Amino acid sequence: MMKKHTILVVDDDKTNLQIVRDVLEAQYELQLAISGAMALKFVDRRKPDLILMDLMMPGMDGKETVRRIREKPENRSIPFIFLTASQSPEEEADCLNMGASDFITKPIVPNVLERRISRILELEDFHRDLQAKVEEKTRQYQELALESIFAIVNIIEAKDELTEGHSVRVASYSMALARAMGYDEQKVDEVYQTGLLHDVGKIGIPDLILKKEGRLTTEEYGEIKEHTSIGGHILAAIETMGYLADGAKYHHERFDGTGYPNGLKGEEIPEIGRIIAVADVYDALVSKRHYKEPMDLETARQEILRGSGTQFDPRIVKVFLKLLDEGSIRNIRTQT
Ligand SMILES: [Fe+2]
Repeated sequence: MMKKHTILVVDDDKTNLQIVRDVLEAQYELQLAISGAMALKFVDRRKPDLILMDLMMPGMDGKETVRRIREKPENRSIPFIFLTASQSPEEEADCLNMGASDFITKPIVPNVLERRISRILELEDFHRDLQAKVEEKTRQYQELALESIFAIVNIIEAKDELTEGHSVRVASYSMALARAMGYDEQKVDEVYQTGLLHDVGKIGIPDLILKKEGRLTTEEYGEIKEHTSIGGHILAAIETMGYLADGAKYHHERFDGTGYPNGLKGEEIPEIGRIIAVADVYDALVSKRHYKEPMDLETARQEILRGSGTQFDPRIVKVFLKLLDEGSIRNIRTQT
């Protein structure tokens, strides 16, 4: 059996309370209050599913009581119905404008009261149910998106065992940067996902070049550079997450305009590209590569600082150095 709904009835007239009680008590759990102050206490103790509120009461009137109840955000979803002896259309409009679900005139007609209340509660239940379903679907959708992204990361990293963990670390550094730069949590998630896929274009680069030890020829280096455009092209297919392509495409642009693939300069480079650029280079510096040994942390720090304003956006370098100095970046590295 369904749990009984709780209804808070507020009326200074005890005869009225009695009538309402006779009509509703068989079906609902009732809280009866004879003043606004008492109503506030009831709501604090237990949130009702619906409020039936007399308009005219001595002291705190019905509208004021509702306003006070709704000051608390958690109470804003409680539907309320005003009860009034007035027949004025202005009053009715005023109540509905306040957000009342309905407006019932006294004297109370038991059948009307019953029907209106059950209809509103049914709608509320339906609405809550729908909201829960939407939330569940949204969660599933986000999970699927992230799982698909990780599957692609596995493809990228399967190509080169030395870069294992690079995507996750770059994503995590970029996420920390975005958060420290004041991004909201949704954008922070987007930056994380973009960081994960920044090197997806390496799928299109021959292994011989990718894993070559020692110096690359000019042609080989030219081919490596292609991973940015290739990545941008691959990710352009995921239109609902349009930001992904920007990260892959622009993470090798340089702030002074001498980067690739487009030679964009300063703020022309999408910010996500500028963020990933710092995270990517730092991780590459302190990691082993086919062509080099890992650099120690202090030298890497100086290297990033040296690139401020030429290779990197100085504003982002500043935030990154702060994260580095307070230990956040090192913590991420040990955790991922
Ligand atoms: Fe790259």
